[in-house]
Amino acid sequence: MNQNTIIVKNIKKSFGSTTVLSGVSFGLKKSENLIILGKSGTGKSVILQCIVRLIEPEEGKVLIFGKNIYDMEYDELNATRKHIGFLFQSAALYDSMTVRENLQFSLVRTTKIKQEELDEKVSESLRSVGLLNAIDKMPSELSGGMKKRIGLARTLIQNPDVILYDEPTTGLDSGTSKEISELIIETKDKYKVSSIIVTHDMPCAKLTSDRIIVLKDGLIYTESTYDELEKSDDKFIQSFFGY
Ligand SMILES: Nc1ncnc2c1ncn2[C@@H]1O[C@H](COP(=O)(O)OP(=O)(O)O)[C@@H](O)[C@H]1O
Ligand SMILES: [Mg+2]
Repeated sequence: MNQNTIIVKNIKKSFGSTTVLSGVSFGLKKSENLIILGKSGTGKSVILQCIVRLIEPEEGKVLIFGKNIYDMEYDELNATRKHIGFLFQSAALYDSMTVRENLQFSLVRTTKIKQEELDEKVSESLRSVGLLNAIDKMPSELSGGMKKRIGLARTLIQNPDVILYDEPTTGLDSGTSKEISELIIETKDKYKVSSIIVTHDMPCAKLTSDRIIVLKDGLIYTESTYDELEKSDDKFIQSFFGY
């Protein structure tokens, strides 16, 4: 099997006359945490949406386990998407449902499953994010950090091979951000998932990254590790560190 789980090849995407991505290519290795670092509005979320074909680029390919998702028919695309967990920036839970119901809902919709197995999967995913005790709570009773955790539990319950995290720590205080970053690392170790983590939160990048790609003006500006970036004398790179 291919060493890369996902390969993004030369994707180009414009909205109207605005070019957002002008030829972005990278690969996601197996069991890797890859960070996409970029300023607000540079197309990070657009890349994630292209990867699961919520958006189609004008040019380029996205190979998932070696197959171009833009060539797939509906059934194959759906089957492929099941391997990919997407943690949206607003990890929106259904307000009128308990945590348990929110988690069950995502599984019942996609698979036929016995109640007993469903209960077990819900408990297991909540245990993984340290929130089994929140199982009967309503979303309104949860803090921002807890909602993010439940969002991750909802992704884990699908047993994905790849997780796409869109700004997982944005809007959280630094202590809670650190907890979420640690959870991302635990998730990788426990589930052997490969992840793409979109962020501009440097403490999160520092903790979670195996490798970092930096996006600028629709292109990959550089590819590096956190330690190398921190030492960089490039003005643009330094701006992420607040220098
Ligand atoms: N569906 C869309 N329609 C029109 N413009 C969009 C759409 N999605 C994103 N954009 C534009 O693309 C640019 C990049 O957006 P985005 O990927 O969300 O940035 P970020 O790096 O902050 O995640 C922005 O200028 C945004 O306004
Ligand atoms: Mg975004």
